[in-house]
Amino acid sequence: MYKIAVIPGDGVGKEVMDAALHILNGLDLDFEYEFAEAGDECAEKTGDSLPDETLQIIKDSDACLFGAAGETAADVIVKLRRELDLFVNLRPVKSLPGVGGLFSGLDFVIVRENTEDLYVGLEEYTSEGAVAKRVITRRACERICKFAFDYALKENRGKVTAVHKANVLKKTDGIFREEFYKVAENYPEIEAEDFYVDAMAMYLIRKPEEFETIVTTNMFGDILSDEAAALVGGLGVAPSANIGQKTGIFEPVHGSAPRIAGKNIANPTAMILSTTLMLKHLNKKKEATLIEKALKKTLKKGIKTPDLGGKHTTTQVAQKIREQLKEYLS
Ligand code: NAI
Ligand code: MG
Repeated sequence: MYKIAVIPGDGVGKEVMDAALHILNGLDLDFEYEFAEAGDECAEKTGDSLPDETLQIIKDSDACLFGAAGETAADVIVKLRRELDLFVNLRPVKSLPGVGGLFSGLDFVIVRENTEDLYVGLEEYTSEGAVAKRVITRRACERICKFAFDYALKENRGKVTAVHKANVLKKTDGIFREEFYKVAENYPEIEAEDFYVDAMAMYLIRKPEEFETIVTTNMFGDILSDEAAALVGGLGVAPSANIGQKTGIFEPVHGSAPRIAGKNIANPTAMILSTTLMLKHLNKKKEATLIEKALKKTLKKGIKTPDLGGKHTTTQVAQKIREQLKEYLS
């Protein structure tokens, strides 16, 4: 039995979570769901956007599904990443039918280091302006690169590409590149290569089909993963995972989308794909693949929400996917 913490959060977070759970409930899974609160509404009610009780529920779970938070998102998600040491941010980039991506047939992942780099927030004003410190440790580089190679192995991906700027950031990115190639030696069956981040920003547009697993530091990963999301259809379809040693938080990239919240028109795809990342993380690859297949079939039939040019509601899309699943299972 797996314990799954469920945090719908604010705005469309609740709607897409309902849709995703409806689909998960169509499978025979040994999951026990525990609901918890976080985000703006929770802060209004309890005075805290991430109560200790919620944190404890996540700590006691095998995985957590997270919808979206509103204005308190940074507090909630940053605190969770730190408290739970979720050092991996995983962003798959996969083409789907009928979503109007710039390319078709893409299937790669970006593995972003989640705990250090310029995002440690060590900024200070100086007499001339301000300075920010970039923190890069060998330990963090080693574990993120190891995660990337293990992921490539598990997913049958033949190549891992490191992205850095070691020609300019000789010490920090020098260490990242060194640790990358040290880790690579333990995976002789997987090809290892590296590119400078500026070149990579261009290659993602010019030849994205050549990549399989990309591993990089925090800020480069932040930027490249948004660029990559645009290649395959944008926010409504972009899932993500934050993974640590013990647990993981699986969430759509999008936020609470207040302007469309409460209208039953939010695209549930990103949340649904986030549940498939959780299933794979819990070694339930068969179930993950089934959901993906049912989702693709449904999109191909033109059953989709208005952001993708469709005319179906969130609920209708979820129902159709579940019906499709049922057909596969019978
Ligand atoms: P957003 O991701 O909520 O929305 C950006 C745009 O994408 C909007 O036009 C929205 O309508 C559309 N969109 C987002 N999700 C969609 C979906 N499932 N289906 C169809 N269209 C969708 O980002 P925004 O507007 O910058 O922020 C709104 C709130 O969300 C803010 O309070 C922000 O702090 C929070 N936020 C939370 C995040 C999280 O919980 N991880 C991440 C990003 C923003
Ligand atoms: Mg971002």
